[in-house]
Amino acid sequence: MKVLLVFAHPEPQSLTASLRDVAIAQLEADGHEVLLSDLYAMGWKSEIDRADFPALAPDERLLPVAASRQAYATDTLTADVKAEIDKLISADALILQFPLWWFTMPAILKGWVDRVFAYGFAYGVGEHSDRRWGDRYGEGRMAGKRAMLIVTAGGWREHYGPRGVNGPIDDLLFPINHGILYYPGYDVLPPFVTYSADRFDAARFEAAAEGLRERMRTLETTTPIAYRRQNGGDYEIPTMELREGLGAGMSGFGLHVSEKG
Ligand SMILES: Cc1cc2nc3c(=O)[nH]c(=O)nc-3n(C[C@H](O)[C@H](O)[C@H](O)COP(=O)(O)O)c2cc1C
Repeated sequence: MKVLLVFAHPEPQSLTASLRDVAIAQLEADGHEVLLSDLYAMGWKSEIDRADFPALAPDERLLPVAASRQAYATDTLTADVKAEIDKLISADALILQFPLWWFTMPAILKGWVDRVFAYGFAYGVGEHSDRRWGDRYGEGRMAGKRAMLIVTAGGWREHYGPRGVNGPIDDLLFPINHGILYYPGYDVLPPFVTYSADRFDAARFEAAAEGLRERMRTLETTTPIAYRRQNGGDYEIPTMELREGLGAGMSGFGLHVSEKG
């Protein structure tokens, strides 16, 4: 497989970077090709602004969705964004790796998503009508490809458990796993999360590294999270509400994971 690893940490000596090196070494040992986008090292521009749309007239109102649609359709996105889109198209799997900062990804990685997941490429794909609401949530440009998160978190595992004060980790990562990765069609694998990440010694590092090696060895075979497909019959169209009778006893994000598994 070809694997794109998008890495968001400013420090090469960080735990996050050490785990990145473990992941890449295992993937390459297993014969995979790894493309690395090291966002800080690349000086990645994280904010969407007019400079992203060189074809836009100086006095024209910037409507980010319309500008993205136009730029993608006319191949006038900036070279840095086009290069990332080409990597995404060529890769069979996408890994996003980052430290949990304020319960989500660092701004530089969010900005990578904002700029690279263009209209017509990652969203706004397929027929939108009263019969069909686009190719998304399990369908779309990335269908057939796999994606997963590798995350370090300062908090304890228990803090992110079902009754933990931070909220369950699957809920916190839902906007990324479901909203960013499943949306354009990726099969999303369970995340690899390293907890208590500010209190690491050599023994804990080796245990985490071995867990991560195993996840890399099984990247092609791990069962994806059973998110419901938008166009698979579970949702009313066009309201996109889960049909009556499904998800009994569930609420919130958990409703969108099929009980069939
Ligand atoms: C700006 C910032 C925000 C953070 N927010 C969280 C958080 O929301 N939850 C958490 O568990 N840890 C949080 N942390 C701790 C980091 O997750 C932790 O320092 C990091 O994962 C350690 O890995 P590293 O050595 O590779 O940086 C935060 C750290 C920083 C600097």
